[in-house]
Amino acid sequence: MAIVKMKGTYDILPDTSYKWSFMEDKIRTVCQIFNYEEIRTPIFEASELFHRTVGETSDLVKKETYDFKDRGDRFNTLRPEGTAGVVRAFIENKMYIEPINKLFYIGSMFRYERPQKGRYRQFNQFGVECFGSSDPIMDAEVISLAVTIIKAFRLKGIKVRLNTLGDDETRETYKKALVEYFTKYKDQICTDCQVRLEKNPLRILDCKVDRDTEIFKNAPKITDYLSEEAKTRFNKVLEYLDSMEINYEVDPMIVRGLDYYTHTIFEIEASVEGFGSQNVMCGGGRYDHLVENLGGPATPGIGFAFGLERLLTAIEAEHDLTTDVNTHLFVIALGDKARVKAVKLVNDLRCGGLITEMDYLNGKLKNQFKLSEKYNAKYIAILGDNELDNGVINVKTPNSTEQVTIPIDSLYQYVVNKLRGGSCGSCHASCDDCSCDCEGNKNE
Ligand code: HAM
Repeated sequence: MAIVKMKGTYDILPDTSYKWSFMEDKIRTVCQIFNYEEIRTPIFEASELFHRTVGETSDLVKKETYDFKDRGDRFNTLRPEGTAGVVRAFIENKMYIEPINKLFYIGSMFRYERPQKGRYRQFNQFGVECFGSSDPIMDAEVISLAVTIIKAFRLKGIKVRLNTLGDDETRETYKKALVEYFTKYKDQICTDCQVRLEKNPLRILDCKVDRDTEIFKNAPKITDYLSEEAKTRFNKVLEYLDSMEINYEVDPMIVRGLDYYTHTIFEIEASVEGFGSQNVMCGGGRYDHLVENLGGPATPGIGFAFGLERLLTAIEAEHDLTTDVNTHLFVIALGDKARVKAVKLVNDLRCGGLITEMDYLNGKLKNQFKLSEKYNAKYIAILGDNELDNGVINVKTPNSTEQVTIPIDSLYQYVVNKLRGGSCGSCHASCDDCSCDCEGNKNE
């Protein structure tokens, strides 16, 4: 029996891979403009890294990680997200000697989740992590970078929702309020939440089981427990966002599912049809204690990650990304001797930057013409023994009667000039202005 792909994974075939390249190129350009540098970290890390960053009581660590013991009896985990690995690399490589590090990454993440549209077990994230500044202006920059990505793809119907988890003081008071509130409903919340109530009350608010119940809707909101300092800081972030004319909504119900967050947290939502609960395409926030908790010097940090499958679906919902592959030139060779010359011609033309193709199945003339259609060739060069003996080659424009015979050695220049705007084969002027006495297509 043939082996098939694992559940929750998918292949990106050539009919789609170019869309990924298009998306990733644009992301890289935006990162460059914002001066974020690329970092690539391993796909697997010591399991402990994720336990200590994402949190023991988070769904991600409790239920969704791909864990394996290697042959040396070490516990490994396929990365479920990018932040932990980047922070580990930041500390291990002493990147903190620079006052500010602005980093980005694009890569696969792994979560053992129930697969559905927009949710996979291997998926891709584009993320940024920025270290060294706790100034609210950094929060605003990171959010504006996420928004610029959205703008670069001209996406509409996007919502930026943000909240603050405040400082340590805020979270301590808030946790107490949550414990007091949910203890009253202990018998009515799910068993996971009963454990969270004891171990990590903030995580109760991520509950996927009871999230929409009245009990949850009436739960205390963190915005009512902010310390004066946390409130002032959050207002400063909003002021910077206003100054950049970024539209947002403050949503006190956002808590994000990972333990490392402090202060600003945010999500970007797209209203893509059929996406349901998978419409959150980007999530992020500040994590001012994470570097220190992992053994590095106290360094503030903030970042976000886009789910690239979701981003691409949103892009495709609004834009047609199909593009025909346009080959500049298809070289048809007839006969063994001509094939030897053709293989060199194709190679030379490619080195000169022309997208050039030929037939690899030694087909008949008719089949080679068919193949040139498949490649959408703009021009077709035909070389047989006769032409070879005379040092010439025929060049045809598909779907027209236009055909010229030119010296083989001028083929490259001829095609380049035609692509540039229809000049003749021997000079650079366009045909209309051409005053040379060459034998190019002026004489056709
Ligand atoms: P996250 O919210 O867990 O945050 O994931 C970020 C984004 O990844 C989500 O908004 C979603 O678009 C996408 N995503 C998550 N799980 C899946 C899945 N199973 N299938 C497809 N897409 C998925 C983080 O990962 C944090 N590390 C973000 C961050 C960076 N915070 C600070 N820095």
